[in-house]
Amino acid sequence: MKRQSVSEIREIFLNYFKDKAHSVVSSSSLLPAGDPTLLFTTAGMVQFKPFFTGAVELPYTRATSCQKCLRTTDLEVVGRTERHCTFFEMLGNFSFGDYFKEEAIEYALDCSVNHLGFDKEKIWVTVYTDDDEAEKIWLGKGIPKERITRLGKKDNFWGPAGDSGACGPCSELYLDRGVEKGGPDCAKSGTCKPGCDCDRFLEFWNIVFNQFNQDTEGNLHPLKQTGIDTGSGLERVALLLQGVDSVYDTDELRKIISFFEELSGITYSQENKTAFRVVTDHIRSVLFSISDGIYPDRTGRGYVIRRLIRRATLFGRKLNFKEPFLYKLVDQVIEIYKVRYPELAKNSASLKKTILAEEELFLKTLELGLEKIEALVQKTKSSGKTLFSGADAFLLYGTYGFPAEMTEEIVAEQGLDFDKTGFQEELEKDRQFSRESWKANKISLMTGQSADKTEFLGYDSVSGKGNIAHLFYENRSVPSLKEGQSGAVVLNQTPFYPEGGGQVGDIGFLRQGKNVFKVLDTQKENDSIIHFGEVLSGEFTTGQELDAEVEQTRRERLRFHHSGTHLLNGALRNLLGDHVLQKGSIVSPEYLRFDFSHSSALTNEEIRKIESWVNESIRKDFLVETKELAIDEAKKTGAVATFGEKYGEKVRVVQMGDASVEFCGGTHVSHTGEIGYFFIKKESSPGAGNRRIEGVCGPAVIETFQNRFAELTEAVQNLNLKIKSELGEEGKNLLITLKVPGPDEIRETLEKDGATAVTFFRDLSESIDLQVEETTSLSLKAKKSLESRDFENNSAVIEKVFSSAVDTGAAKILFAIFEDKDPNSLKGLSDNLKVREKNLLVILGSRNADNASVVITCSSELTSKGIHCGNLVKAACETLGGKGGGKPDMAQGGGKEKQNLDSAIQSAVDEAKQILTGERV
Ligand code: ALA
Repeated sequence: MKRQSVSEIREIFLNYFKDKAHSVVSSSSLLPAGDPTLLFTTAGMVQFKPFFTGAVELPYTRATSCQKCLRTTDLEVVGRTERHCTFFEMLGNFSFGDYFKEEAIEYALDCSVNHLGFDKEKIWVTVYTDDDEAEKIWLGKGIPKERITRLGKKDNFWGPAGDSGACGPCSELYLDRGVEKGGPDCAKSGTCKPGCDCDRFLEFWNIVFNQFNQDTEGNLHPLKQTGIDTGSGLERVALLLQGVDSVYDTDELRKIISFFEELSGITYSQENKTAFRVVTDHIRSVLFSISDGIYPDRTGRGYVIRRLIRRATLFGRKLNFKEPFLYKLVDQVIEIYKVRYPELAKNSASLKKTILAEEELFLKTLELGLEKIEALVQKTKSSGKTLFSGADAFLLYGTYGFPAEMTEEIVAEQGLDFDKTGFQEELEKDRQFSRESWKANKISLMTGQSADKTEFLGYDSVSGKGNIAHLFYENRSVPSLKEGQSGAVVLNQTPFYPEGGGQVGDIGFLRQGKNVFKVLDTQKENDSIIHFGEVLSGEFTTGQELDAEVEQTRRERLRFHHSGTHLLNGALRNLLGDHVLQKGSIVSPEYLRFDFSHSSALTNEEIRKIESWVNESIRKDFLVETKELAIDEAKKTGAVATFGEKYGEKVRVVQMGDASVEFCGGTHVSHTGEIGYFFIKKESSPGAGNRRIEGVCGPAVIETFQNRFAELTEAVQNLNLKIKSELGEEGKNLLITLKVPGPDEIRETLEKDGATAVTFFRDLSESIDLQVEETTSLSLKAKKSLESRDFENNSAVIEKVFSSAVDTGAAKILFAIFEDKDPNSLKGLSDNLKVREKNLLVILGSRNADNASVVITCSSELTSKGIHCGNLVKAACETLGGKGGGKPDMAQGGGKEKQNLDSAIQSAVDEAKQILTGERV
């Protein structure tokens, strides 16, 4: 067998199918575009799902691709077996209503034997239990009956990917690697067949005969057109053609292993192969995922990436990597793949940064995790158990990222068994959770309907005519919709924009004479635009012609905010750098929200610069040009594409002078000047590594300032009232005199001065905010000092303290306990007491919210009579569980145990009494 490299195998495959009139289609993102039911792209057919069901117009009927895929269902065994990977590349050829079984089988055999170089005599095949037709075709191609095995649903029925879509029976090609590769029993009997778990037969090509469309409830409906979906794992084919035992020994993966050997100074061997394989597999998954915009995170897709980095870190420790190390190999790994996946090279700097940050983050929790595992082991032992619980293992797994097998190893060293079943149960619960959290409420009204494309008229107009193609009531297709019914309407053409690209769907009315349907939302399902709403009057029937009217002012505001979003994206990329990638956006009539990758919070200065850049671009009044281009042409314009968006063969490119070029299907202004002005309301973070900007454009800016100044006026009025009532004359200087522009003035100034006025109003509102904040804290201080002055001079208080006096003859001891008085007030009160008489000892306490304080002072004559206030305070504070001390005539202190305050004061009084009566010296 000829030894071909991975990249040669890929070329041979794609060229073979190109020669057979297949369009060569690039790999799509690992983040399945527009399919919330799927966590990752798991097969080559994922990007073609709507082509199989006939839900969209077909740009071609035959395609071939090499698709990046990510599957993490068997994560725990990756590294421990010869052929499991989380990331892999899948070769495939596809037919959408074009050829079927005969040609698919012919191509698979011809390509494998005559082009890739497999030995036909060693090829075995499987067919679905009742697929006589496939078996007949194989027999006709020279595969003898004894090398054809029939298998059931588990092995020979594939799909759908996600929870709905195309699926069908399949037929697989296996290579017989010789009886000696079988398990001991198989090798002895020599009778095993494909489907056996041993290593003798290795599957390398799967042909799915797509015949059904499975709906979300699991029902199978015949497809309008049959199709072919094939998958052949590139790494597996390379394993067989290169005659090695493991995918990790094929040329590209072995190269990555050698990078790790070099970095660690350790040689790849039988003993450490698991660790090498784990880091090798995981660096590819992590690199490709992050490059496709899937960042490590706490939930969903990002959580999977986080787990991969953590698992790599743990296994990396076995190779003596104690510091972040994965990020160091980013450039070398990119070097291998950049020809096939040029997007990697563009992102290398930010990829490194993200991976490094994530490695550092885990190293911080790793030590804690190791401590935690020790504590849990102790807990298990001291409760007399010998089984380390699944729940504890899952805690370590979920919180500290410890894979179960690692925990198992560690607890075994401590003589404990490991509750695998319990752990699996927790894991399954968790998997269920992450699956559910990704299932969005997808509409699928159109399944089984003849789906003609709805023509979108809304770029040029907000009204137009359309014919009713479908009506739906309670999610079922109906011939008519009656007054009072809520339902959905699909037209052959419509000016209503369906939610997409961040822009929310239009609302408005569909009318015909007296029949009125109020549109509350517009959505898209494949190529059909669906109006959701309610019949306000009359009745609608299919075929009827309607007038469609989009609510105009709302649409206008959507245009301002959508074009404003493009300028904001332009500003961020210009001012912060090309690492800024759009991570999500909402374009609504009220505001725009834009999430993007950037690691640190924006400074006030950056925010102002971004705002000015956008306002400047608005002022330049660029023409907004839109063009429909073939995807390859569009890419050449350098237009910014959004991660996770699905782009067809033709894309719309929206350009605003030199400020912005983006792929976008949304509705826009015709000149940037129409936007008027832009204001950033808020900057925050939606999650690790990303920032979020919320802003407004046009009339929404006027409203924002009108509201903001109204709020400020109210806040200032309330503060002034409070100052007057609490401080009276004393607070006169603190009162704020506010001069803010009224609503009309705001409108006029913005309309006249645009960008300058935005900056002026921003400054003004920020300075008022600051003034309110400062005044509030000043008035609080003033209030406190007023209160303490009142307290210190209050004659009733003074009288009361005197009435508690203990007269020892030589001196009087005054003592009292108050609530919530600070030591300064207590001292002030002591001074006011001491001026009244000579020979006074004053012992005061205060019980506060979370502690107690004590102040003890005396007239100077008493110090010669043996009184030392410092010592008295010290003893009292010990009773309070705190500390204190000071001079002979003045001391203070406190403690947390405020419940002991009474006894602390009483003891100080008793102690002083004994000293003053000479009972104690
Ligand atoms: N979609 C099929 C698979 O993944 C070919 O095996």
